Amino acid sequence: MTQYANAVTQYENGTALGGRIIREGGLVVFPTETVYGLGANGLDSEAVLGIFRAKGRPADNPLILHIAKKSELKRLWSHVPDKAQTLADAFWPGPLTMVFKRSSIVPDEVTAGLDTVAVRLPGNKTARALIKEAGVPIAAPSANLSGKPSPTTAEHVRQDMDGRVELIIDGGPCRYGLESTVVSLVGKPAILRPGAVTKEMLEAVIGPVEVAHAVLSPLREGETAASPGMKYRHYAPDAEVVVAEGSEREIAAKICREYDIRESMGQTPLIFATEQTQPFYRNRRCVIIGDRSEPATLCASLFYSLREYGSRADVILAEALPNDDMGLAYMNRLLRSAGFNII
Ligand code: TXA
Ligand code: MG
Repeated sequence: MTQYANAVTQYENGTALGGRIIREGGLVVFPTETVYGLGANGLDSEAVLGIFRAKGRPADNPLILHIAKKSELKRLWSHVPDKAQTLADAFWPGPLTMVFKRSSIVPDEVTAGLDTVAVRLPGNKTARALIKEAGVPIAAPSANLSGKPSPTTAEHVRQDMDGRVELIIDGGPCRYGLESTVVSLVGKPAILRPGAVTKEMLEAVIGPVEVAHAVLSPLREGETAASPGMKYRHYAPDAEVVVAEGSEREIAAKICREYDIRESMGQTPLIFATEQTQPFYRNRRCVIIGDRSEPATLCASLFYSLREYGSRADVILAEALPNDDMGLAYMNRLLRSAGFNII
């Protein structure tokens, strides 16, 4: 299998071909219900190194193994704790990744040398069909160049991965639009990365769940990240991003002020507005990216919009959401894409 083949073939349903490519050590981009994944044979060190090369990903940021059957967990972990079984029964297949002590069959390249491994059973049927065809767990990060927003359409994948992978399977737009919830079950259950399976949903099933400090803050000086992915500049579009906090009215007033200042400086600002706030912005340039009363709508379009509009503005002005339910996942991604630039 040649790595970095120049011809990228696009298939409506290329899972049989994709499975063969994965078995032979190549790279296949596939749809999931969260974001597109850049997959390789998760038990083959060389194939896994290809993922890091294609993305330009730092070698100390571990990968998620994707499986098609819950029973695979016990091969990848030292054992399956009760709470993990409970969570798997409640949320798999779906947008939940669980971290626990790894077994000896998991290569160091997947875990970046950690003694734990992250595992997810995706809800997307094409993803599961591909894993079954491959016959191995598929290691897959989001299919973007390192540092860019995760891709949620095949077109956005192509912008980053054309010529770097053997196959891109086009499954249409991703339902959730941002990555899975990552929960660690080593010690007290803790959310390392929030997602569509919320803290409230997890707690309803297994009781108290902590949220890692770095979810809504930049790492403090000298602090080590519970999840290595949290220490990197993330989800950065071409434009600068500024986040306005406060009540709905305060947010709108801050955004209008910032917009006018930026425009007077000769910049092209663009507002990520919502159904509720759009009237406040009058004739300023804005796109409606969702409904504030349904954070899932904003989650579903955030990465898409950052990629789509990031090259058409100098600065994107975006609204903060309350940090509960899916608002937590939204704010985690938005604050990182803004480099914690808050007004
Ligand atoms: O929805 C998703 O999770 C997507 C799709 C493709 O499944 N995948 C994804 O992978 O977002 P990636 O590599 O972009 O993000 C994985 C996150 C990173 O923040 C990484 O640091 C963390 O999971 N992670 C992976 N293994 C870990 C481990 N053993 N301990 C702690 N964090 C881990
Ligand atoms: Mg990623």
